[in-house]
Amino acid sequence: MPVSRKLFIKTFGCQMNVYDSGRMSDALAASGYVEAASPDEADLVILNTCHIREKAAEKVFSELGRLRLLKSRRLEEGRRMIIGVAGCVAQAQGEEILDRAPVVDLVLGPQAYHKLPEIEQRVRSGERVIEMDFPAEEKFERLRGVDRRAAAAPVSAFLAVQEGCDKFCTFCVVPYTRGAEYSRPSGQILEEARKLAGQGVREITLLGQNVNAWSGGGEHGGNWRLADLLGAVAALPGIERLRYTTSHPRDMDDSLIEAHGALPQLMPYLHLPVQSGSDRILQAMNRRHNAEDYLRILERVRRARPGIALASDFIVGFPGETDADFEATMDLVREVNYAQSYSFKYSPRPGTPAAERDDQVDEALKAERLERLQTLINAQQLAFNAACEGREMAVLFDRPGRRPGQMAGRSPYLQAVHAEAGPELAGQVARVRIVNAGANSLTAELAGPAAATRKEAELEIRS
Ligand code: 5AD
Ligand code: SF4
Repeated sequence: MPVSRKLFIKTFGCQMNVYDSGRMSDALAASGYVEAASPDEADLVILNTCHIREKAAEKVFSELGRLRLLKSRRLEEGRRMIIGVAGCVAQAQGEEILDRAPVVDLVLGPQAYHKLPEIEQRVRSGERVIEMDFPAEEKFERLRGVDRRAAAAPVSAFLAVQEGCDKFCTFCVVPYTRGAEYSRPSGQILEEARKLAGQGVREITLLGQNVNAWSGGGEHGGNWRLADLLGAVAALPGIERLRYTTSHPRDMDDSLIEAHGALPQLMPYLHLPVQSGSDRILQAMNRRHNAEDYLRILERVRRARPGIALASDFIVGFPGETDADFEATMDLVREVNYAQSYSFKYSPRPGTPAAERDDQVDEALKAERLERLQTLINAQQLAFNAACEGREMAVLFDRPGRRPGQMAGRSPYLQAVHAEAGPELAGQVARVRIVNAGANSLTAELAGPAAATRKEAELEIRS
């Protein structure tokens, strides 16, 4: 058995990074690493970085400044601390990180995580390593051999099915940092899903930068789209709930829309980012759909799964955005009536086409628009939550709640729900009645014994 060392990973950004951090940790477990509660006590610290919006790189450098102090303090105590930078900032600015931050021992792009144990060895013997490998295929193939730590298995898990993006929205760095679209083979995904189910996972969220662009051969031949894959995962014993994120409207095919009406395990929640309600801006963003196309898709999704909670991302202040363009976004939000949305000020990303434009929107105007949009979005979210008061629903409990004697979990609509309940409810789907709704969470009381989500959803779909 290798010596026990401590690992601390700080994760920034999206769920793909959360997933990747988990896999890095699993891969390093084989080299004897256990997770540390804080960087102070860690022998290896990894920053898993995000490059999607502004100042991401600056955040990394200021974090590295803090770590430099920790590292020298440990060195004074005669102990070594290895510092690594992974993720999208590493991919985009790896060389610069090594130049600017001597404290960094290793830089690792998102497709090179499977090499981490070997790289850690090289660093330990005195090398400084930079590794930025494509394609994703090798990463998934190699990480597959790594067992997830059963003890840490959560009730709800992410499963990466697809990585990278070929869409090239003009504001976005993902196609540059994560590379071309790559779909993992269905056999590999199902093998991982079976393993998760065996470890007690009840809910799986299929993950991808552009998850609904997933395609591949079926387990027993034929061509599969995401709907087929969802169907196959839903059929695994033990998997009670399924979700997928994040999708692009262009890849919302008929079979996927139908799956929302046909698969009881598929939770009634869809995150389908539109970014803007203005056709002119959508075109400038290279989204390759207009507002009407998007609204029509949502109409069909709502027909397939009445009551589904809809969510989106929005960017305000994209170059050239006029008041009228922004009002079109506000109109679209009013028309859809979202359960939840995320909104951001446009942030020019070096190397992307929109960053080169000379009609950038004034920061103060961006801030003003963001505030108006967020006020509307928050009101919609609160209204969605308030409409749940008095309703009964199935909650998957997975963690202790805010207060002693409480447990917390997620509703089918991905709302956080707190209820007076004992720890024996962890990992169970239970029926609750919502008694109070806030903007960000719901309070509930238990309304009966644990009920199978499947039956609930079948009833909901039929009603
Ligand atoms: N500026 C602001 N927001 C952005 N996003 C992606 N790139 C940028 C950018 N350059 C947002 C989009 C995307 C979400 C993950 O981040 O809304 O859907
Ligand atoms: Fe970025 Fe557009 Fe690809 Fe989403 S679809 S990852 S926003 S380029």
